Amino acid sequence: MGKETHRVTTMTTISYLLLVAVLLLVDLSSPSLAWGEEGHYATCALAEKFFSNATMGAVKDLLPDYAGGSLASLCSWPDEMRFKYRWSSSLHFIDTPDFKCNYNYDRDCHDSQDVKGRCAAGAINNYTSQLTSFFSASQQYNLTEALLFLAHIVGDIHQPLHVGFSSDLGGNTIKVHWYKHIANLHHVWDSSIIVTANERFYNSSTNTLVESIGQNIMQGYRNHEIDEWRSCPSDDLACPDIYAAESIKAACKWAYKNATPGTFLADDYFLTRMPIVEMRLAQGGVRLAAILNRIFSQGQVHTS
Ligand SMILES: *[C@@H]1O[C@H](CO)[C@@H](O)[C@H](O)[C@H]1NC(C)=O
Ligand SMILES: *[C@@H]1O[C@H](CO)[C@@H](O)[C@H](O)[C@H]1NC(C)=O
Ligand SMILES: *[C@@H]1O[C@H](CO)[C@@H](O)[C@H](O)[C@H]1NC(C)=O
Ligand SMILES: *[C@@H]1O[C@H](CO)[C@@H](O)[C@H](O)[C@H]1NC(C)=O
Ligand SMILES: [Zn+2]
Repeated sequence: MGKETHRVTTMTTISYLLLVAVLLLVDLSSPSLAWGEEGHYATCALAEKFFSNATMGAVKDLLPDYAGGSLASLCSWPDEMRFKYRWSSSLHFIDTPDFKCNYNYDRDCHDSQDVKGRCAAGAINNYTSQLTSFFSASQQYNLTEALLFLAHIVGDIHQPLHVGFSSDLGGNTIKVHWYKHIANLHHVWDSSIIVTANERFYNSSTNTLVESIGQNIMQGYRNHEIDEWRSCPSDDLACPDIYAAESIKAACKWAYKNATPGTFLADDYFLTRMPIVEMRLAQGGVRLAAILNRIFSQGQVHTS
C-alpha cells in the first residue's frame, strides 16, 4: 500500500509522463486522502488490538511523543521517507516473473541492481532481527525506524499487487477506469477499494472499517484459521515468504483477473474484491501483532 509513484525512478520518461498525467487526472477528480494511508492505518490499528502487554510497553517506548501512543498514526512514515531514504524504495514490494503466479525468495527478492535480500521479505527479516536487540544494553540500529519499517512493510506485503508482475510494476502501468475515474490497477488495490468501501459501508471512516474487521477477526473467522495466520514454521519470529506467496496468488486470482488495460471496473469487481482486501488487512494486522509479541516476549523471559 504505497504511493503509486512507487518505482518512478525505474520507468522510462514516456511512461513517467503518462503516469504523471494519470495522477493529475485522479487528483483532480477524487478528493481522497494521501494514497495508501488508509490501508496502512487499518493494518496497524488492527495490530494494536492484539498487542501483548510487553509489546504495548515496547511500542510506547519506541514511538516518538508526537505519535500520542498510536503506532497507526505513523504507519505510513516509510512512504513519506521514500525519496529521502532512496535506499529504502525497493523494500516496499517484490517483483515476480510475469504470469508465473508464484514467489521464490532466491529468485525474486532483490532490487533493480540485483542485490539479494533487498525486497519486502528481506526487509521484514531485517527489521524483525534488529528489534530483537530491544532489551540489549547497546543498539546498533535506530529501533524506532525499525518498528515503523516493520509495521509498514508487513502491511505492504499483504497487498496482493505489492507482490505482482515485473513488467507492469505490480499493476502500476495498467490503466483502468474505477467507476467514473481513471486510475491504475495498483492504486485501485492500494487505495480505491478501501476508500469506496469506507464511503459505501463504513460511514466514510477508516476507524469504522477497522472496528468491523476487528469484529470479524474476533467472531467471524474460525479460530484455527487465525492461529494459522499467526504461526510461522520452525519457530521463526516472522515468515514473510508465506505472506508473499499468498499475495501473488491473490494478485493472479483477484487483482489481475478481468482487469486488463482500459477495463471499466465497477460494482462487479468492487463487491467481489472488497472481502479479499479486508481479509488481507486482517491477516496483516494479526501477523504484525504476532511478530511483535514474539519479539518482545523474549525480554520477559530474560528478565523474569
Ligand atoms: C496486562 O496489563 C494489565 C493492566 O496493566 C493487567 O491487568 C493484566 O493482568 C496484564 N496482563 C498480562 C498477561 O500480564
Ligand atoms: C536493513 O536495515 C538497515 C537500517 O535501516 C538498512 O540500512 C538496510 O538497507 C536494510 N536492509 C534491508 C534488506 O531491509
Ligand atoms: C531514530 O529515528 C527517528 C525517525 O527517523 C528520529 O526522529 C530519531 O531522532 C532517531 N533517533 C536517534 C537516536 O538517532
Ligand atoms: C457517521 O459520521 C458522522 C460524521 O462524522 C457522525 O456524525 C455520525 O454519527 C456517524 N454515523 C454512524 C452511524 O456512526
Ligand atoms: Zn509502502
